[in-house]
Amino acid sequence: MSFVRIFPALVASSMLLFAASPAAAADLAAGRKIAEERCAACHGKDGNTPIDPSYPRLSGQHQDYLVHALRAYKQDDRKHAIMGAQAKLLSRADMENLSAFYAQLPGMMTHKR
Ligand code: HEC
Repeated sequence: MSFVRIFPALVASSMLLFAASPAAAADLAAGRKIAEERCAACHGKDGNTPIDPSYPRLSGQHQDYLVHALRAYKQDDRKHAIMGAQAKLLSRADMENLSAFYAQLPGMMTHKR
């Protein structure tokens, strides 16, 4: 197969890689570190055993939803004294990493295969 013929396929596959990069680029270890240091106290070590029934479960939620929620708290679009203060300490990368970490943990609604 000539290069000319495989070149479009190479371009297409590298574009796919770029498209997938936000999730792929997330640093799960960095997310876990912050989660254990700052979030576990309220949301539980597994993100699914909150200290109060009114505190939401984070594990198994969609990564993009979690990022959205954290940004909203940081910008005070979603007003909550505790989470507003928590989110203001987080960079965009911290939010991506934390959200990727919680999203890949099994949640109540996670389908077990
Ligand atoms: C002192 C307790 C406490 C700590 C620490 C805490 N949270 Fe929360 N978190 C809450 C409470 C309470 C809510 C519900 C707030 C509301 O009603 O909007 C919440 C809500 C959230 C939500 C929204 C979930 C949803 O389903 O909409 C996310 C995401 C979240 N927290 C992430 C984090 C992360 C990440 C950390 C660590 C950086 C953290 N929280 C630390 C108490 C805490």
